[in-house]
Amino acid sequence: MLLLKIFLIFLAVLIGLFLLWAVGMKIISRLGDYFHFAGPCPASLGWIVDNPLRKRYMRPILDRTGIQPGERVLELGPGPGAFTIEAARRVGPGGKLTAVDIQPEMIAKVKQRVKESGLTNIKTHVASAYELPLPDASVDRAFVITVMAEIPDKLHALAELRRVLRPGGVLSVTEEFLDPDYPFAGETIRRAEKAGFRLTKRHGNFWLYTINFTK
Ligand SMILES: C[S@@+](CC[C@H](N)C(=O)[O-])C[C@H]1O[C@@H](n2cnc3c(N)ncnc32)[C@H](O)[C@@H]1O
Repeated sequence: MLLLKIFLIFLAVLIGLFLLWAVGMKIISRLGDYFHFAGPCPASLGWIVDNPLRKRYMRPILDRTGIQPGERVLELGPGPGAFTIEAARRVGPGGKLTAVDIQPEMIAKVKQRVKESGLTNIKTHVASAYELPLPDASVDRAFVITVMAEIPDKLHALAELRRVLRPGGVLSVTEEFLDPDYPFAGETIRRAEKAGFRLTKRHGNFWLYTINFTK
């Protein structure tokens, strides 16, 4: 009986913590967005997005982005670079991957990974999504994984992504429910369409989705 009680208390605490993370944090994040104090996830929390479990379930995301050998690909908001090296391997030596993050500490982590990988087709930049350090129409494909919600002026960032994509280029947006500032797919689609993108493919489900748009 006592064991059952302890188990039930433990279960209740677990469910409470999950609800706090999955729902409470989202409410706080929505308020942040509304009052314009959304901002980048602190670099000191980079380990949260960079854990082996997440990498396993997120790996198919790179398949969904549709990266092809030889492409010029932009990764906006790589964080510590959990997907950067694999994405660069997919574009191969004939392609190029540019990783842009607003936080120097995140780019330092990406650079360390690039060095260890020995790959030479990756460029990194510390820059804002509002001012991408790339010429007009110079990118075939851009992908953003759990980033858009951290950007206060999302339409501005989308317009900038549209500027650097070539006509027919692809923007791939991935969001996961466990991210405290997860946006619903409908919001992602409405915003991208408002910025002039055309929806081409929807992958995944409520918990983890990737939506591809074309310029
Ligand atoms: C939650 S992390 C996601 C990292 C990575 N995409 C992943 O899924 O593992 C979001 C990243 O976006 C970056 N970011 C947020 N706002 C940005 C902005 N306005 N311009 C460029 N990068 C930004 C943050 O610095 C952070 O590294």
